[in-house]
Amino acid sequence: MISAPNDPVAASADALRQRLGTRAPKIAVLLGSGWGPFAQQLRDVVDVPYADLPAFPALGQGVSGHVGLLRAGRLGAVDVVVLAGRQHAYETGQPDGMKGAIRTLAAIGVEVLVQTNAAGGMAPALQPGELMLMSDHLNVVQRSPLVGEAGDDRFVDMSNAYCPRLRAQAQAAAQAVGTPLHEGVYAWVLGPQFETPAEIRMLRTLGAQAVGMSTVPETIVARHAGLRVLALSLITNMAAGMSTETLSHAHTLATAHAASERAVRMLVAVVQALEI
Ligand code: HPA
Repeated sequence: MISAPNDPVAASADALRQRLGTRAPKIAVLLGSGWGPFAQQLRDVVDVPYADLPAFPALGQGVSGHVGLLRAGRLGAVDVVVLAGRQHAYETGQPDGMKGAIRTLAAIGVEVLVQTNAAGGMAPALQPGELMLMSDHLNVVQRSPLVGEAGDDRFVDMSNAYCPRLRAQAQAAAQAVGTPLHEGVYAWVLGPQFETPAEIRMLRTLGAQAVGMSTVPETIVARHAGLRVLALSLITNMAAGMSTETLSHAHTLATAHAASERAVRMLVAVVQALEI
């Protein structure tokens, strides 16, 4: 493909290739709240701030708990690239904040995007601290990062948005390290406010088990770019109206922090078990 002059994705891919040298990661891991310590598990790391990559978002508005750093390194024998920090649609009103970043990953040869997030639990089994593999999602917001794209490939088939084969490998890896991994449907809401109890009743009725403010736009971009996707939710709270606690970002981060060791241990096992 011939890229347009000043194409930020091509420029970011060139810059990244230079920084990564002989590394050729096929797996990218996008870290959400609570999953940050995963980046410390990598060895032989190269760090590239998003600010050095023109297709990547500026995360200046400071959502506490979210940074803007790409880290390439090795997890055991596996070459991995980690994205610490995403731009959320609730920051800008636009769902395409991570579009350039994900297309850059595809351009350097990444084939699998492993996403992580914090989410509210809407099923009795999904208590704070539990982990859920996303089997599917509900795009409740009904916004797409592909609006305005040209070409027939914008009509992306979303019927296996979260790769069944990778999900089976993830389940086997979680079982091997003894961590229960629930499976369920994630509903994407815009935020930044939390939901009302009536909205949570609606989402449960629609068939979702977890609710959060991220991940779905990135999955859409990744599927359009030909990547396979796996996504893991760390449940940080029972959703609105399902417990007596008051929801807050500080509470989400505190629970995520407390549960993060187990989550990261499982993620390390999962990433190493993926067959690309
Ligand atoms: N709702 C939406 N997003 C979230 C929640 C929630 O309850 N918990 C963590 N992210």
